[in-house]
Amino acid sequence: MTQRTLVLLKPDAVRRGLIGEVLGRIERKAGWTISALEMRTLDQDTLEAHYGEHKGRPFYEPLVEFMASGPVVALVVEGERVIEGVRALAGPTDPIAAAPGSIRGDFGTIVRENLIHASDSEVSAERELKLFFPSSS
Ligand code: PPS
Repeated sequence: MTQRTLVLLKPDAVRRGLIGEVLGRIERKAGWTISALEMRTLDQDTLEAHYGEHKGRPFYEPLVEFMASGPVVALVVEGERVIEGVRALAGPTDPIAAAPGSIRGDFGTIVRENLIHASDSEVSAERELKLFFPSSS
């Protein structure tokens, strides 16, 4: 099942010089292709649309503030079962719970600064790809 997913390398990944490391892991995965890539600083409207489902939860405001704190790298990754695959490569939300070998397990520190976002379902991927890469959808 070939899929497309949205991946964001969060501001902590950019600040810590981990862009190449994370992109390399994605590129080395057999059968996956990066089909679009852009570095940008996210505005409030984009962040509210992206994280809107979490509005009202205690982590929402700090998360949005963190995600606006510097540029992110947004990319589209295509491949077989890539939605599930990139989530596995990233590891669980909380880096403490993430196994060595995963991106968060190897480099993550605290839950807010967990390096990478990846769409969690086909429905989310479609919505997020439209938001971040409207011309490629
Ligand atoms: S849930 O309950 O499964 O919907 O939540 P989850 O997918 O784990 O997290 C949703 C996004 O919120 C981020 N998150 C947090 N940010 C800051 N602080 C805390 N405590 C926190 N908990 C969760 C989490 O990283 C998810 O964002 P993305 O960008 O998808 O990684």
